[in-house]
Amino acid sequence: TSLKESFKNDFLIGAAISNSQINQTDSLTNTVLIKEFNSITPENDMKWEQIHPQKDTFYFDVADKYVALGQKNNMNIVGHTLVWHSQLAPWMQDVKDSITMAKNIENHINTIVKRYKGKIDTWDVVNEALNEDGSLRTSHFYEVMGDNYIALAFNLAAKADPDAKLVYNDYNLWKPEKRAGVVRLVKKLQEQGIKIDGVGMQAHWSLEGPSIEDIENSIIAYSNLGVKISFTELDVTVLPNPWDLNGAAVEQSYEQFENDPKMNPYPEKLSDSAQTQLAKRYEDIFKLFLKHKDKIDRVTFWGVNDGQSWLNNWPIKGRTNHPLLFDRNYEPKKAYLSVLALK
Ligand code: XIL
Repeated sequence: TSLKESFKNDFLIGAAISNSQINQTDSLTNTVLIKEFNSITPENDMKWEQIHPQKDTFYFDVADKYVALGQKNNMNIVGHTLVWHSQLAPWMQDVKDSITMAKNIENHINTIVKRYKGKIDTWDVVNEALNEDGSLRTSHFYEVMGDNYIALAFNLAAKADPDAKLVYNDYNLWKPEKRAGVVRLVKKLQEQGIKIDGVGMQAHWSLEGPSIEDIENSIIAYSNLGVKISFTELDVTVLPNPWDLNGAAVEQSYEQFENDPKMNPYPEKLSDSAQTQLAKRYEDIFKLFLKHKDKIDRVTFWGVNDGQSWLNNWPIKGRTNHPLLFDRNYEPKKAYLSVLALK
């Protein structure tokens, strides 16, 4: 059996894949990917700096291979992400007037979405437009265009591929204040008659939080807007977070923790007790997902196996994290079994 088989009547089971997986140089990961998952997201290769590095230059080589891999294996294919302040091409950072910026966004979305029309099933249209308090983030896009860039991006994507599912994606969407911000954002689009199909909750979580109750309240609030929920970037860190130690004061200087053994407690393998804690945490999370399966389209992990996870290098470089269902040897962990046991 497999994850995708077990949950086939509930929701899609996805994984983010990296450049080496797309290029098939990492064949073991691809074996697990094809056996266990029926949806893919490109971890980095469709971000603006990758796919549109110069005003008149698009780079489609890797993205084309990514889409071909998904098609060959009959997978749901996600595009990530059209408009995001981070990993944005430097030339876009220099654009300071709203007319030029709008034109550039139009060219970006039209070119990419039309190229993959009918092939990419779902687009993360706008990523991380909100602050933690639910207000609009003063990103480069916001500074130049105000919140108009959000409506513009959804409008263009809907026209470029009317059949694609369009998602607003962000992190910490379990937080009540940020939840209220998403509700405002989605309602505003809907009032303007603009198509939005889903809210993507990134789901970079930990053993301790967020609470199942906070996640559930967000699922319900978003579903009440008439959109579907996807968990788009699920992982559960087992390592201490620097901001839990002494708060915002350290946020600028995580480097100080880089070689601190206290911050990297499982350099070889995860302890049995942490393994069990992780399994219980995933069990609780998937129980909730199953309870609300009618509202949930997809659950995507941010990576296939622990060795590949971005959490080995974020927010502190060079640690050994264990946040996924498969370990560094591509073996299913106790958490994998606890999730499958729910079915
Ligand atoms: C991360 C990738 O996993 C890293 O490889 C990269 O260095 C930085 O971006 N939110 C998102 C993702 O929407 O695109 C981010 O992916 C993780 C946070």
